[in-house]
Amino acid sequence: MSTNSRGQWSSRVGFILAASGSAIGLGNIVFFSANAYKFGGGAFYLPYFIALFVIGIPVMILEFGLGHFTRRAFPESLHRLAGKKGEFVGWWALMNSSFITLYYITILGWVVGMLVGALGGLWKDAFPTPNFAVDSLPNPYGYFFHMLSTWRPLLFVALVWFLNGVIVRKGVATIEAAVKVFVPLMWLFMIVLIVRGVTLPGGVHGVWLLFTPDFDVMKNPAVWQGAFSQIFFTLTLGFGVMTAYASYLPKNSDQTNNAILTSLMNCGFEYIAGLAVFSILFAFAMVPQASTLAMMFFIVPKGIAQLPGGSPAVIGFGIVFFVLLLLAGLSSSVSLVEGLTCSLIDKFRVPRMRAITIFCVLGFLGSSLFTLPYVVNPGIQNDGTLGLTLLDLTDHWAFSYGLLIVGLLETLLIGWVYGVRRIRDDVNAYSRLRLGAWYDVLVRFVIPGLILFILIYAVVGEFTGGLYGTSFAPNFAEGWRWMAGSPWVVLFLWLAVSVGLAALFTHLGGYPPHRPGELEGGES
Ligand code: PHE
Repeated sequence: MSTNSRGQWSSRVGFILAASGSAIGLGNIVFFSANAYKFGGGAFYLPYFIALFVIGIPVMILEFGLGHFTRRAFPESLHRLAGKKGEFVGWWALMNSSFITLYYITILGWVVGMLVGALGGLWKDAFPTPNFAVDSLPNPYGYFFHMLSTWRPLLFVALVWFLNGVIVRKGVATIEAAVKVFVPLMWLFMIVLIVRGVTLPGGVHGVWLLFTPDFDVMKNPAVWQGAFSQIFFTLTLGFGVMTAYASYLPKNSDQTNNAILTSLMNCGFEYIAGLAVFSILFAFAMVPQASTLAMMFFIVPKGIAQLPGGSPAVIGFGIVFFVLLLLAGLSSSVSLVEGLTCSLIDKFRVPRMRAITIFCVLGFLGSSLFTLPYVVNPGIQNDGTLGLTLLDLTDHWAFSYGLLIVGLLETLLIGWVYGVRRIRDDVNAYSRLRLGAWYDVLVRFVIPGLILFILIYAVVGEFTGGLYGTSFAPNFAEGWRWMAGSPWVVLFLWLAVSVGLAALFTHLGGYPPHRPGELEGGES
């Protein structure tokens, strides 16, 4: 199959918009702020920037370099470099990130629900919360949990999957058309929120929180685990996505430059998003929350509800906030849909529309699990629904472990099995900034070593502190007590399904043999 029949970005700008659109998502707008707050504000940014420069940018160069080198999606790229075991890692990455995308799209469905609410109902005084004892709490909280306890989010989730299918229907051509509108709008809306936030009386105090360093916390490995996971998630690394996107670039592209630009745009956006969130919260003396969903669905909206200017301002900024989340989230989720579609087309030669339809329908069914409205325990606040609990548990494995494991395996495969030198030479041949031998040391020793350390620390924590979720899962009310074992069930399902499917895809069929010297010579 010739390279061109896979499609190609029409310009470098198109590619950068798409890659940064994939990177900039919910992770930037709310997850970062929640993590930064959890680890002490300014205390987070040193580990965060170290993670960005030592792991983020180098792994981004590696993932772009792979796509550039092989002109194929992640599983086939790794197959060409390291045979079947490489391919397995590629499919496993896509399966793990599909789990993330399932709940990511459910969250986007809730964003649509809140956006509908932001048109009016969300800001009204009393909101009925039949199953929940939360009437006395601020409205976004009641509104959100009320919505979750109905089947309505199912409709919104279907809509978000449909939009994903529409945006990727013709591959790079339609993705590029969408990101050309979405990404500039995201920046515009973000700037509107920052200006509003920092000009509020007291708003700048929130800004200080993000810039006051604290060297003490750096001794705590949990902070490093948070920073590493955040960097992988926010830069969409370990998802198998960046390789697919880079495989649609012409051969003479400067990947080092592309990786630096995409990473800096992403982290720049993330930092200024932190300014907007913290300034709005501090202006109204509200305590930020370490929980990402709380931050997104009721803490920030509660701040917006208090903005001066009456209901036109509240409704206006509410809409800006939720539309921003939706645009940022969609331009991320389409990258995963494309990454998997492109891998399936490369290997099984399925027609594009069929691959997309099957994936979106299965995806919708998977995302529906996280909308299950059964209220876990009406008496316990913050406990949410069955869907929310499952989401929390899945997120723990796919996000905190899955992405880092993929990062570890891909650096080991390239560093030790294939030889990072060959990728580096290929990237250097087209890049102005040349990577020296230090890059090989990073990929072979430093990055896998750091990730391994963090993973071991985290696994030890699961054993000594109890498996994640065992403390809150038993809260299920009568009739659902059997769900108390759900932390184990979710761990088992995540592992069994992702490993099983990855093994199946690896062993079904095969790739056409590549021509000798093809990789080294490079196709154009
Ligand atoms: N980078 C995205 C973010 O920060 C994460 C993501 C990418 C999630 C692709 C799903 C699919 O939000």
